[in-house]
Amino acid sequence: MMKQQIQSLFSLPLLFILLSHCTGISAQGPAASPKAGPIADAPAPPGPTNVTKILEKSGGFDLFIRLLKTTQVDGQLYSQLNNSDSKLTILAPTDSAFSKLKSGSLNSLSDSQKDQLLQFHLIPDFLTMSNFQTLSNPVRTQAGDQFEFPLNITTSGNSVNITTGLVNTSISGTVYTDNQLAIYQVDSVLQPYGIFAPKPLPPSPAPAPEKAKPKKKASSPVAAVKSAAGSVVCDLSRNGLASIGVAVVFAAVMFL
Ligand SMILES: *[C@@H]1O[C@H](CO)[C@@H](O)[C@H](O)[C@H]1NC(C)=O
Ligand SMILES: *[C@@H]1O[C@H](CO)[C@@H](O)[C@H](O)[C@H]1NC(C)=O
Ligand SMILES: *[C@@H]1O[C@H](CO)[C@@H](O)[C@H](O)[C@H]1NC(C)=O
Ligand SMILES: *[C@@H]1O[C@H](CO)[C@@H](O)[C@H](O)[C@H]1NC(C)=O
Ligand SMILES: *[C@@H]1O[C@H](CO)[C@@H](O)[C@H](O)[C@H]1NC(C)=O
Repeated sequence: MMKQQIQSLFSLPLLFILLSHCTGISAQGPAASPKAGPIADAPAPPGPTNVTKILEKSGGFDLFIRLLKTTQVDGQLYSQLNNSDSKLTILAPTDSAFSKLKSGSLNSLSDSQKDQLLQFHLIPDFLTMSNFQTLSNPVRTQAGDQFEFPLNITTSGNSVNITTGLVNTSISGTVYTDNQLAIYQVDSVLQPYGIFAPKPLPPSPAPAPEKAKPKKKASSPVAAVKSAAGSVVCDLSRNGLASIGVAVVFAAVMFL
């Protein structure tokens, strides 16, 4: 009995090690289950708000949820909302919003473009419907750069209108709101210029450094001439000093 128990105690971890080595299973899977257990069982600590859970419950956001999962932005949101100081507004496109996209346009995006597209739907602020009136445009999103990723939000009457320059839409419903997180339904995917129609860079001092480069090269021969001249001067003065020295010595000898 004892021997058998000991054997099984040894063989289980051994088997796991072998399995994880042979099949590339990471320790994450098995390690996660004991962690998930107590969190799910204990109702006391509510934990961070789970965005995908809210969207699942609401229904009609299957494609948005799938994109959140494949890009792992769902995990990012989970840890973002774990910080009670961080505020967030999500503009969540419905399944019919995704179906309006040109076919294949989502599949043609790289992983980082998919990530950027999602960040563009996230405003790092908690906005109630009345807050939208006070926004100044362009609105800051988590996609960053407001030149490539401009998002303008205006209100007229009860409607909150959103434009990216490529897409005009408006908020068509409130999915969820607490004091930290607001989720609104939008009926179009917000397509940013930066991904769907990259704008040429604006005329800026950017070309200046390129012009400066040849200048630098041109200036270096000048510098070489200067330093050469400098050394010539130096040599001359040295010769001069030397000759003065020779003259002094000669004079001294003459006087003796
Ligand atoms: C959030 O909820 C979804 C759906 O209920 C679940 O699959 C996922 O594991 C949850 N995420 C976290 C980090 O708990
Ligand atoms: C939430 O943050 C705390 C530290 O502030 C950390 O200990 C905890 O593991 C985090 N929980 C999750 C689910 O990320
Ligand atoms: C806002 O959107 C509504 C429809 O959603 C439209 O009737 C209205 O003209 C739009 N307003 C502006 C200022 O674009
Ligand atoms: C967004 O608003 C800014 C500031 O009002 C404006 O300059 C810009 O043209 C607007 N962009 C779009 C796409 O409406
Ligand atoms: C968005 O609305 C503006 C005016 O409100 C219009 O000039 C523009 O053509 C519209 N863009 C699209 C893509 O519908």
